Amino acid sequence: MKIFYNKIKLSVHIQALRAKGHSVGFVPTMGALHNGHLSLVNEGLEKNEVIVVSVFVNPTQFDNDEDLVKYPRTLDNDVALLTSVSKTAIIVYAPTVEDIYEDKIESQTFKFGGLEHEMEGAFREGHFDGVGTIVKRLFEIVKPDYAYFGEKDFQQLQIIRKLVELYQIPVEIIGCAIYRADDGLAMSSRNTRLTKEHRAIAPFIYKTLKTAKIKFGTKSAKNVAEWVEKQFKKEPLLELEYIIIADTRTLKPVKRKSTKKTYRAFIAVYAGDVRLIDNIALN
Ligand code: PAF
Repeated sequence: MKIFYNKIKLSVHIQALRAKGHSVGFVPTMGALHNGHLSLVNEGLEKNEVIVVSVFVNPTQFDNDEDLVKYPRTLDNDVALLTSVSKTAIIVYAPTVEDIYEDKIESQTFKFGGLEHEMEGAFREGHFDGVGTIVKRLFEIVKPDYAYFGEKDFQQLQIIRKLVELYQIPVEIIGCAIYRADDGLAMSSRNTRLTKEHRAIAPFIYKTLKTAKIKFGTKSAKNVAEWVEKQFKKEPLLELEYIIIADTRTLKPVKRKSTKKTYRAFIAVYAGDVRLIDNIALN
């Protein structure tokens, strides 16, 4: 498997592949790969001869230094996992911080039409400026035809679509269904940091979302959100940060349901010191 640590060498290699008529898919990651990432890679391989997987823990999208330090870094294991999918069709780009940011580790400031102020934007200051900065930079380096993002970070996916529209970046963004463990927990690199007890209780998050979806058929968004809050109060190992029922397109919280719109429930929960997010389509 080819691994690049340098953006120039990577671009030269990709250009040569493109000259052969290959379509290039891109899966940006922060490493600590799991089956959720592999499902994005596999989806990419259906449409592209080559998939570039970037592995880079992006410092500018962390609002919490401890979270950045503790974020798992497992490049050897990541490469082994990707090799099990394909030795030849996958290229890894694992840059250093300098290769991406040179001497200025700083975010650009973005306006994503208000999407950036909701949910994760409200709870994690500067997060989407950091995500926008790194994804825009990676798109400039890789110049992919298609880029794959998981719906677990649904707000991120909508923001990336907006980024591409605002800067007219010639890439098609593909949103991929959330990949879940057999017990329903959404796959996340953070799951490896859960204690045994927290891992055992964490499927409660998706279980509650599924019941919330059923309730949303007959009840108001406010009622459903209150019901979810009540469930988490009964669960001492999990601390609910937010449950928000929002319009899928604008991500604004729903005031009054309309049959013409689609909605999602978004949730963030602390399991000990590990912050987990999840979401579900409601209609
Ligand atoms: O979803 C992620 O893992 C990150 O936010 C991304 C898109 C790789 C940017 O660092």
